[in-house]
Amino acid sequence: MDEQARRSGLTFGEHMMVPSALDILRESSPVVSVGILTADLLSLGSELALLERTGVKAAHVDVMDGCFCPMMTVGPPLIRALKTPLLKDAHLMIDEPLNKVADYVAAGADIITFHPEACSHVHRVLQQMRTMKNANDPERGLVRGVGLNPGTPLEVLEPLLDELELILILAVNPGWGGQRFIASTRGRVEKAKRMIAGSGREILLGVDGGITRDNIAEVAALGVDLIVTGSAVFDGKAAEANAKFMLEAARR
Ligand code: DX5
Ligand code: ZN
Repeated sequence: MDEQARRSGLTFGEHMMVPSALDILRESSPVVSVGILTADLLSLGSELALLERTGVKAAHVDVMDGCFCPMMTVGPPLIRALKTPLLKDAHLMIDEPLNKVADYVAAGADIITFHPEACSHVHRVLQQMRTMKNANDPERGLVRGVGLNPGTPLEVLEPLLDELELILILAVNPGWGGQRFIASTRGRVEKAKRMIAGSGREILLGVDGGITRDNIAEVAALGVDLIVTGSAVFDGKAAEANAKFMLEAARR
């Protein structure tokens, strides 16, 4: 086991088994995955250490390509540069992820979410990911996620339910942090839960965008497994206290 896994304290029984990324998410549900793009990017090491101290389990990286999203953010080199036991949660808001996903896996992403709105071969991307190994540790596995914009009908998920581990419902339109939570997300989460129950598979459900101190408890109460929150944690003032608050509020 490498030092990072040891530091994460992710040991099962006497044998220091490495749990899969999926196991970690299930065991810790609801997981708070903190968006790091509003952190101090030139001090990312200490910003990640701050999250680790609070008990946060995942770091969410919003990858935007300037095409699917107006803004361009970061790519595989930044994901590779994250030295942390936190799960690396790569949210790819990029055009045509087929044949691009491999670079994010090689960079150490544990969770990879992409968008059908930006993709001609959604099912093929999922098939492609099924054959890939987690670069941190092959035993850790990869979590394959599909993200859906607020305007995309949930029915696009139906033919994909056998090939994914995570559905990420966006509560804002992709673009930037700090937007307002769109109210219709609640109904979409309920509908997604029914679809997942009907599939008979243990698919994780997440919500991303507009999650603040004021609404995180309410979102957690919807019964989701993953909650992404960015600017409400890294607000330039009290990131550690914010992260602790979010963890506590999501658990209740
Ligand atoms: C939206 C992104 C979100 C967003 C989260 O484009 O996918 O991850 O940046 O940031 P907050 O929590 O500030 O809405
Ligand atoms: Zn995101």
